[in-house]
Amino acid sequence: MTDRPRTNPTSNLAAPYNTAEELHFPPSFSFGSATAAFQIEGGSHEDGREDSIWDTFARVPGAVFEGHDGSIAADHYHRMPQDVALMADLGLDTYRFSTSWARIKPGDRGLNPQGMDFYSRLVDELLEHGITPWLTLYHWDLPQALQEHGGWANRDTAYRFADYAVEVFDHLGDRVKQWTTLNEPWCSSFLSYAAGEHAPGHTNPAEAVAAAHHLLLGHGLATSAMREAATKDQQLGITLNFTVADPHDPTNEADIDAARRIDGSFNRVFLDPIFRGQYPADVLHDMAAAGLEQHIQGNDLEIIATPIDMLGVNYYNGVQVTAPQTPPVPESALTFPSERGLLRRSPAVGSERVRDRSRSLPQTAMGWEVQPEGLERLLLRLQEHYTGPAGIPMVITENGAAYNDEPDAAGFVDDTKDRLAFIDAHLRATHRAISRGADVRGYLLWSLLDNFEWAFGYGKRFGIVRVDYKTQARIPKASARWYADVARSHTVPA
Ligand code: NOJ
Repeated sequence: MTDRPRTNPTSNLAAPYNTAEELHFPPSFSFGSATAAFQIEGGSHEDGREDSIWDTFARVPGAVFEGHDGSIAADHYHRMPQDVALMADLGLDTYRFSTSWARIKPGDRGLNPQGMDFYSRLVDELLEHGITPWLTLYHWDLPQALQEHGGWANRDTAYRFADYAVEVFDHLGDRVKQWTTLNEPWCSSFLSYAAGEHAPGHTNPAEAVAAAHHLLLGHGLATSAMREAATKDQQLGITLNFTVADPHDPTNEADIDAARRIDGSFNRVFLDPIFRGQYPADVLHDMAAAGLEQHIQGNDLEIIATPIDMLGVNYYNGVQVTAPQTPPVPESALTFPSERGLLRRSPAVGSERVRDRSRSLPQTAMGWEVQPEGLERLLLRLQEHYTGPAGIPMVITENGAAYNDEPDAAGFVDDTKDRLAFIDAHLRATHRAISRGADVRGYLLWSLLDNFEWAFGYGKRFGIVRVDYKTQARIPKASARWYADVARSHTVPA
């Protein structure tokens, strides 16, 4: 094994963030918010848009909470100008959104001018309000037509993605400076093709490892193609979701190994090819049974390692893991942890080698443990081992929390004690990581609006602005007002 990962540099769950201290961020630090096309737009079959895999998946009985779908969502497709005005009211300087491939190239055929026009108008609207547009090309809504040919398990999809990326870049690159290829490829591969919890809902580890490699290849192909046309002030990057895994017993070899496997299958399987042009030896070994290595062709790894300008970091929670003693499992068995019931058994893999253990930390409505110091450790680790050596900065492209909001008669949600406190703690963790040497340039909160939380439908609310789905009214929560002050003053108040 070439690079034995250290997943647990000084875990300190009790790391206090002193909320009595006022913290200042540099004036150049970005404060913004993030959304994704399928989660907010609606208008799912308007102006030429065709099915994405999420439209199809939502029709499968039982796939999404209470049969919810994306046909209306937060109706952003029709309310875009008002939503941009709302962002401006909240003092946000950056807005991260995604373009819908199924809207821009329905069926992955020719360009749909009406689809492209929507994003062109969005970009113009943002710029008119002084908000920096941050464009993500793929946030999980693959055209269904491509899934008919195997989706991301098919190598050809990587090339289709690069074509789509270049088309969007050609149309919007004159105004958009911040470009992200993929959002959270772990979800588009392992959660979608092995755990079956996301579209297309497959439970096949061999497809999942193929998808992971082809997503990485698509990222590299798109990055190098866009790079040819990019100006010096344009930044190209990727957003990864990170899981900070700690062994339940840091002196127990089996627990340490369980944490290593989780770190490998969530984090390093993407980080190492992008930053080092190779899969880690232990990950190749762990994923040998599923056949990861057989998908690597020619100069794939060189393409995947095409230099990027910034790393997008999505962080929600950490996990503590332990390896069960029984039943004994073969060394070659894989674990594909799922997000819901985290790290629970993946039936397709047939082997439970790793389990999460509750640490009695507070949890969000997703059942995710609140662990802001995990973000501090993550940023420092990335700085030391990946982004620092590559000489590139990080931006937190997502962080936030779902809670069971209780609106008053006017629809106002006082989330001071949960969501606001969550954001406050994670901003403090970010601040401390910066003071300890992490080059972090911005924080894009998830999310601006309540929205379609994938398999959880509209049942989980991440917004700092409440959406009343009956009237589509937008009602800023207490956290939105607080965050607006933070964004304007670049200060986290005591
Ligand atoms: C990450 C995903 O990018 C986003 O789409 C999702 O809603 C949040 N996590 C919360 O689960």
